[in-house]
Amino acid sequence: MPKVRPTSLRGTSRERWATKLGLVLALAGNAIGLGNFLRFPRQAALNGGGAFLIPYFICLLAIGIPLMWVECSIGRFGGRHGRGHTASMFDLLWRHPAAKFIGALGLFIPFTICCYYAYVTSWCLAFSFFSATGAYFDLDTPAEIGRFLAGFQGSERNEYFSGLAPAYLFFAVTFVVNIAILLGGVARGIERLALFAMPLLFVFAVVLVVRVLTLDPPPGGGPDQTVLSGLGFVWNPDFSALRKPSVWLAAAGQIFFTLSVGWGIIHTYASYIGPDDDVALTGLATASLNEVAEVVLGGTIALTASVVFFGVVASHEIAAAGSFDLGFQTMPLVLEQLPGGRVFGTLWFGLLFFAGLTSAVALLQPLIAMLREDFGLPRPRAVLLTGVLLFVGTQPVIFFLQHGFLDQLDFWAGSFGLLVFGFLEILIFTRILGIESGWREITHGARITVPRVFRFVIAWVTPLGLGAILLSWTATELVPALSLDGLTAEDRPYVLGSWAMMVALLGGFCVAIHYGLRRRTRNGAGDDT
Ligand code: PHE
Repeated sequence: MPKVRPTSLRGTSRERWATKLGLVLALAGNAIGLGNFLRFPRQAALNGGGAFLIPYFICLLAIGIPLMWVECSIGRFGGRHGRGHTASMFDLLWRHPAAKFIGALGLFIPFTICCYYAYVTSWCLAFSFFSATGAYFDLDTPAEIGRFLAGFQGSERNEYFSGLAPAYLFFAVTFVVNIAILLGGVARGIERLALFAMPLLFVFAVVLVVRVLTLDPPPGGGPDQTVLSGLGFVWNPDFSALRKPSVWLAAAGQIFFTLSVGWGIIHTYASYIGPDDDVALTGLATASLNEVAEVVLGGTIALTASVVFFGVVASHEIAAAGSFDLGFQTMPLVLEQLPGGRVFGTLWFGLLFFAGLTSAVALLQPLIAMLREDFGLPRPRAVLLTGVLLFVGTQPVIFFLQHGFLDQLDFWAGSFGLLVFGFLEILIFTRILGIESGWREITHGARITVPRVFRFVIAWVTPLGLGAILLSWTATELVPALSLDGLTAEDRPYVLGSWAMMVALLGGFCVAIHYGLRRRTRNGAGDDT
């Protein structure tokens, strides 16, 4: 690692994770989110089921796990010097004026995504409540459930909902819980939440998996409406998928999303690890827990249930229809046909709520770290200011949902942004810091022997693979998105508005980083205490 400016060599009173278990569960809580239970099954269904898993696992080994190690070690390195967000970490790794602005992506991406993620998490809380009360239990067609959901989200007024008030109420509760946890800090807030929520999440998920695996074929259903064909849909490998670039793009995108790599968040969490503590086993354990939750649990519950109740073809169509249809439209229909459906429904949406909450707190932590370290704000003030910004940023998502506001934030920050950030950071790590020092940092304090082949993978396979993915993504997705293809005239102003919001956020973060780092250098390191 490079020598550090003397002013930033004060790292003794920094916040730390209290226990190893707490650290791994907090990192796993950050990684295991709505992506595992809602996004993964959808991507698998859209990309031909079993066809998806081969590129998915290749991307996990070639990009996901290497980036997890890279980010954990950059984060621990940053923490050693009292730096808890990527802008100040990159500034330390690469003495170039551009470095901190590349690192700005690690503040912009998570904050932007949180502007919708916290809202979607609040839907889970609401639907857990609606399941317990049986609110949607006599609606028996997808169209009816769709109207229930549209009414709740405020895109139409109907007999179920006359406005946004219930959605807003559940958002307010989720928001307050989120902020209350962050006010507790790293060990007393985030870690405690993870120690409580993660075991609960796994118990809920296992109960649901057992329930799904013991489903009987519905009376009068087609021959494909069985648990086995549901499982086969995801698990039967299809090697021809290796020839389709779109399947590779989807697989890489899912790996970034689900492991939380390319966001700037793993760095922040890892900055609270002790300077000589392991990152290799921690990173691997996090990735493994996430994959069990994603492929085994997430891949079984919603998709298998959907195949049993609606067949393979219809499940495919449901997945194609919209990002959250599988979770919020199909699952309610499934649940209401199950004996004990209210209980299982409460568990399913409760599970999603915990998965979302442990991720939402992570999305805000980089900004909190910046306000504390670079601007010297005490924790309560940093958290409250972050809360105010989030509250304002969520309003357009709530009110303009039907005009595609959420999808735009997701597309630019949650897909494109991740690839760009991941690519630039692997270049900084392997080419500017150098693989020699990088490898030393990954293996420093390691409690496992990291196979040496990963040194080669990190130096060559990950950067080249990411470069290729970024290029083909740019060629196939960027141009149509920029040309506003396929949007109605009514939606265009909203889409342009979402772009303006993102430009303002990114610009705002760059300015804040510029002044924050200057202030930091002038005052000596403002350490996180
Ligand atoms: N990994 C989370 C998911 O699967 C998304 C996320 C990324 C959450 C980064 C927090 C930070 O849903």
